[in-house]
Amino acid sequence: MSEPRESQHGQWSGRWAFVLAATGSAVGLGNIWKFPYITGENGGGAFVLVYLACILVIGIPVFMGEIIIGRRGRQSPDLSVRSLAEEANAPTIWQLGGLMGILAAFLILSFYIVVAGWAVSYIFTTASGTFKGATPDVVGSTFDGLLADPKRVLTWSTLVLVFTMFTVSRGVKRGLERTVSLLMPGLFVILVLLMGYAMTNGAFMEGVKFLFKPDFSQITGNGVLVALGHAFFTLSLGSGAMIAYGSYLGKEISITKTCIIVGAADTVVALMAGLVIFPIVFGNGLEPGAGPGLIFVTLPIAFGHMPLGTIIGTLFFVMLTFAAFSSAIALFEPPVVWMMEKFKTTRNNAILMMGAYLWIVSLGSALSSNLMSETHFLTIGGEPKNFFDSVDHIASNIMMPLGGLFVALFCGWVMTTKATSDELALEESPVFAYWQFILRYVAPILITLVFLNVIGIIDLSPA
Ligand code: TRP
Repeated sequence: MSEPRESQHGQWSGRWAFVLAATGSAVGLGNIWKFPYITGENGGGAFVLVYLACILVIGIPVFMGEIIIGRRGRQSPDLSVRSLAEEANAPTIWQLGGLMGILAAFLILSFYIVVAGWAVSYIFTTASGTFKGATPDVVGSTFDGLLADPKRVLTWSTLVLVFTMFTVSRGVKRGLERTVSLLMPGLFVILVLLMGYAMTNGAFMEGVKFLFKPDFSQITGNGVLVALGHAFFTLSLGSGAMIAYGSYLGKEISITKTCIIVGAADTVVALMAGLVIFPIVFGNGLEPGAGPGLIFVTLPIAFGHMPLGTIIGTLFFVMLTFAAFSSAIALFEPPVVWMMEKFKTTRNNAILMMGAYLWIVSLGSALSSNLMSETHFLTIGGEPKNFFDSVDHIASNIMMPLGGLFVALFCGWVMTTKATSDELALEESPVFAYWQFILRYVAPILITLVFLNVIGIIDLSPA
């Protein structure tokens, strides 16, 4: 390539803007809801160690690969891949890998706004004192009551979608960048406050032990695969987002350094969320492995019985909303730029059209807990699943690992060593050889294992 390309859609104002935006994308429901709960299910400390290894060994190198594709391609994820394939004289069919990422982002966002909507509604439920002294039954039926009411679920998810559309319509600098520069510091301050509270009021040491004391007899093969899958999910890999965000990154900024910072920030937030949640759960004699209900039921029971519980609980759901929102805007960006480029239309037109499609698909997830709870789409592990769970499974467990595999193969084998080492600016360094080795061999093999494990338990015939 003679001249480095420019992005048509804007550029981050600098390294820190990118770090904040990418961290905003990475830190989401995955960190605050999913990570603590899968840690509980997979035996605590040993699982955490395996997860850390997955982030470090596979997650960060693949993350670097996505940023390379974005920054060198400078277009929507699919067209970036296409022009890099052309540059390497490879078939342009590789473009489909980028397209799949965009579709994955669209599908994830369709249920993400629903869960984000629950989080927003819980700010008000908690602030109004609903949980004060409430019995577990009352707390449980508060959550069930929300899920059973299609009007309320839809109102909140629509509100999240409208805010997402508005933010993304303001473009890279005034929309995405400005929003994350408010939300991320806010999230961090709340997290530190909550951790201070957990240290002084909860069973803090019990929480620390649960997260950091490894008992290797607890770790199973399946646990390793769950850890790797989650490393992808939490770093927002395989869903086009990091390719899109990379396309707005200035040429002079070090990809290696920024990716390590973002990976570390994402991990620190997940671990801190665990250090807030588990001490509160243990301190109130509750169970850590409650699954999806952990933060919407177990935690509110604790909020109802502890000093300052209403304030702490409200702050918790504000934090969850911040985390979910900064991920939602990152999930919306790839489909929007795809549409802008595909139909040569303006950002606002693309947002209105994509927003409409998204709203329609999100209806399926919003109604999965009420009107459509008996409508099944896929059978997973022998159990019929509703729309929400089916879309989650296809996007998170099938499309994301496939997207990661694609990135590894594309950067490792299709792009020339000259192109990738040029982007990483690491030509002679052993770090580059290590990176390339991981993308060529280690990542593809491990991701294939995860993938086979996941499809092994799914029957794709309609339920
Ligand atoms: N990383 C997000 C979380 O932990 C989820 C996610 C997956 C995501 N892919 C994404 C967010 C793409 C933004 C963009 O909750």
